[in-house]
Amino acid sequence: MAKNTFTLTDNRNGNSYEYNVIDGTRGPSVVDISTFYKDSGMFTYDPGYTSTASCDSKITFIDGENSELRYRGYDIADLAGKHSFLDVCYLLMRGSLPTEDASKNFDLEIRHRSFLNEGLIRIFDALPDGAHPMATMGAATMALAAFYKDHLNLEDDKQFKIMRRRIVAKMPTIAAMAYRNSIGTPLIYPDVNRYFTENFLYMLRAYPGGSMKRLPDGTNEEIKQIEVDALDAIFTLHADHEQNASTTTVRNVGSTEAHPYVAISSGIAALWGSAHGGANEKVMDQLKMIGDIKNVPSFIAKAKDRNDPFRLMGFGHRVYKNRDPRAECLKGLQDQLRVELKLDSKLLDIAAAVEEAALSDDYFKERGLYPNIDFYSGVILTALKIPVEMFTPIFVIGRTPGWISQWSELKQDPKHKIARPRQLYTGN
Ligand code: CMC
Repeated sequence: MAKNTFTLTDNRNGNSYEYNVIDGTRGPSVVDISTFYKDSGMFTYDPGYTSTASCDSKITFIDGENSELRYRGYDIADLAGKHSFLDVCYLLMRGSLPTEDASKNFDLEIRHRSFLNEGLIRIFDALPDGAHPMATMGAATMALAAFYKDHLNLEDDKQFKIMRRRIVAKMPTIAAMAYRNSIGTPLIYPDVNRYFTENFLYMLRAYPGGSMKRLPDGTNEEIKQIEVDALDAIFTLHADHEQNASTTTVRNVGSTEAHPYVAISSGIAALWGSAHGGANEKVMDQLKMIGDIKNVPSFIAKAKDRNDPFRLMGFGHRVYKNRDPRAECLKGLQDQLRVELKLDSKLLDIAAAVEEAALSDDYFKERGLYPNIDFYSGVILTALKIPVEMFTPIFVIGRTPGWISQWSELKQDPKHKIARPRQLYTGN
């Protein structure tokens, strides 16, 4: 019978090294090269970790070739819009969907944990008008570690559970307050009578005293259920994505025994970049810059020009070399909202023209560059009247349960070590 091992041969001297192949439940197997340096005196070289599995995980499965994304075994298309985001948080953190009672209790607990300590709120005062909400969110999340010192005691199961729920509950409040602070409007406190996602929209839109915008007919503008449902689905689609750049950052910082909220704040920093979560903001900037369908060909040409650093934002993905299943869900949602929320049709027309041009172009086809989640989320968030600087903060709210679940998994893994890669030195 064939051995489940892999042999590496050094062709310079004929030395061979045999390593175990480990099979997961799905996806590519891995070669365990953890003793390679000890055996051979050499390192492996893999910038950007394109062929490296850094951990084992039971949380999220992606098959990039077949456009498949699963949280704890559930297909993303069976979760987004079909279960509430809070139930999906529960699923990621606990491993199974909640019962009806557990779901109600979880929702209630999250509502009551959504408030911020008044001391933390004072941090916002120190930051200037116009500060990007991502900068403020990173600072406020880091500062949470100063308020919850007990969260480093992993032996205490109750604390461990509360720590995870607390960060999920507070992130929308941090995000909404970061935004309001950046534009100099009074901060709005959470309303325990509202569900998580509605509460976030409320904290963004309400006037002091808790009233919504007063309309000429004497009524108040209400938050529409369709808006809550759409944003809830967007949160679910962002909730986890296995070992992406920000999650790897959270795990790396977590591996040093840092406070979990410090690890989450480092995830916020990593997510902000335009190659990662910051792309949704850039997609909108780019669509506005294109400005008209007639300009699409010249932007496509620019994206293809190797001497031009310009990239088509919202296209391409490290893992999906075929359709991004999250983008497919959002495309369906966009079509549904187009009529009901009167989406900006000029922007939509430009987006459709970009998509059509790229999908029929050999450059994009050969490289497997398809629209990713950020391509559609920007247009939908605009329809929900979400300011563009809040696009990446919304990604943060969605991703928080994923980050904290991955952090927890790392901490519970007896094999986990401090993350400490090696290098190929090329200096003097
Ligand atoms: N526009 C034009 N060319 C591109 C693009 C793009 N958006 N993305 C990749 N390419 C080209 C790239 O120039 C390279 O070409 P060549 O083989 O001729 O050198 C080839 O495609 C492979 O690109 P890569 O940079 O090696 O691929 P990667 O896996 O390292 O990068 C990516 C993935 C997402 C960083 C990249 O596709 C990109 O920068 N996309 C635009 C930003 C974006 O939309 N990011 C959001 C990602 S989805 C949200 C999330 O999950 O974080």
